[in-house]
Amino acid sequence: MDVAGSQREAREQATLLSAFVGSATVWLLIATAIGVLLSFKFPFPDLATSPYLSFGRLRAIHTNGTFYAFASVALSGMAIYVAARSSGAAVFAKPVAWVSLALFNLAAILGTITLDLGMSDGSQEYREWLWWVRVIFLIGAICSAYVVAGTIANRVERPIYIANWYTLGAFTFTTILWIVALIPTYQIGLGGVTLQAFYMHNAVGMWFTFLALGVTYYALPKLLNRPIYSYSLGVLAFWTNLVFYPIIGSHHYEFSPLPWWLQTLAIVFSVGMLIPVFAGSANLILTTRGRWEIVRRSYALPFLAAGVVYYFVGSTQGTFEALRTAQAYWHFTSFTVGHSHATMYGFITLITFGAVYALLPLATGQQPSILLTGVHFWFALLGVTLYVVVLSVGGTIQGIDWASGNPFISSVEAAAPFWLARALGGSMMFVSHLLFAYNVYVMVAAKRTAFEPKAQAA
Ligand code: HEM
Repeated sequence: MDVAGSQREAREQATLLSAFVGSATVWLLIATAIGVLLSFKFPFPDLATSPYLSFGRLRAIHTNGTFYAFASVALSGMAIYVAARSSGAAVFAKPVAWVSLALFNLAAILGTITLDLGMSDGSQEYREWLWWVRVIFLIGAICSAYVVAGTIANRVERPIYIANWYTLGAFTFTTILWIVALIPTYQIGLGGVTLQAFYMHNAVGMWFTFLALGVTYYALPKLLNRPIYSYSLGVLAFWTNLVFYPIIGSHHYEFSPLPWWLQTLAIVFSVGMLIPVFAGSANLILTTRGRWEIVRRSYALPFLAAGVVYYFVGSTQGTFEALRTAQAYWHFTSFTVGHSHATMYGFITLITFGAVYALLPLATGQQPSILLTGVHFWFALLGVTLYVVVLSVGGTIQGIDWASGNPFISSVEAAAPFWLARALGGSMMFVSHLLFAYNVYVMVAAKRTAFEPKAQAA
């Protein structure tokens, strides 16, 4: 490619990445503003009682919004950018990438409106959107997959860089997952429950985990200016994640009518998950060894480092939480919601923030304010930690209360102060999102003159 051609390509990549991240950020604000409202409904149940603001409708809007309109869109955009940069190739079929973004947004808008009007595909978590809305989202994901795979196919070097193993794995597995989740015969009875276990947990483990690890495998070595600690550990973590993850979802249905052997298998494989989690997090943390001064001074690296620590802590917690003795107390309590946010926020969202701060300045040449980024980091980290800790304690108290056979209301009274503290932690997280949105605006609104990659940018 000549100089003019590569400048045009860099400009187009910057515009594409900016659009994916900008769109994801708008949805982050909407979905987490709703999350804050939901969290205040626990200590103040009479707050906002209109049907359009009812807990049942807003909860699904919050979960689908954070999952599909925020995290999926931001990480897909970054996966496309990483595929191009690490392959030394132009983004393949750019119009298809734009179609993908449009379909993601169309699905998110229709999904949000229909859910708020009370139209939902039932109580199956993370697939409450009506089936045809999910089909729109699925086509959007296939478009992104096509762009990522086509870009990697045009790479200049034969080996596929480890980051792209993860993102390709995410798109391949998840496309199958979403198609299976739409098959009508799997929507009812115990088959529906088994499929729900398969779907809900793999949406987290094969989609978000793979995408987040993929962008980290690109951003971390780039910012530290050194290779990843061990390519082999990365490959080991990839394959063992693929072996163990798909079967663990039934640990959400322990003591249910699902076959006992399936529940036991899910528990055994949950223990097996220690292998990819230890291998993956050790590999990423060891990549930072001896470079903590760089981590401390960077505005992107603290998010990535904290995200990897949360990956380790949240996933290890998941293994122990899957044991029957633990489930006997924690099942149905707020402890589970603490665990969800340790992983989906502490791990996935912090990594997403870090990767945006790493990649967007490289693409646009514009850096965010270091002070605001620091405040964003501490509000997000302390907010989510408060959220997780108080729900872990409050959820345990709830579980013990239920096991003691006390009247249900006594567990509600016991958990109330912890729910109020969760609302405080959630508000801190939301304030951090406002700062993130401003930073994204600064990085995207860069003067589009110089598009040379700046490795030192973050
Ligand atoms: C300001 C930030 C946030 C606040 C205040 C918040 C608050 C909440 C609340 C109140 C619930 C309902 C909990 C219940 O039913 O007991 C919830 C559920 C959930 N949220 Fe968030 N959230 C936030 C950010 C996020 C983000 C960024 C994600 C994902 C990327 C996320 C993923 C989830 C999930 C998966 C659930 C379902 C939990 C479960 O059933 O285990 N949240 N959130």
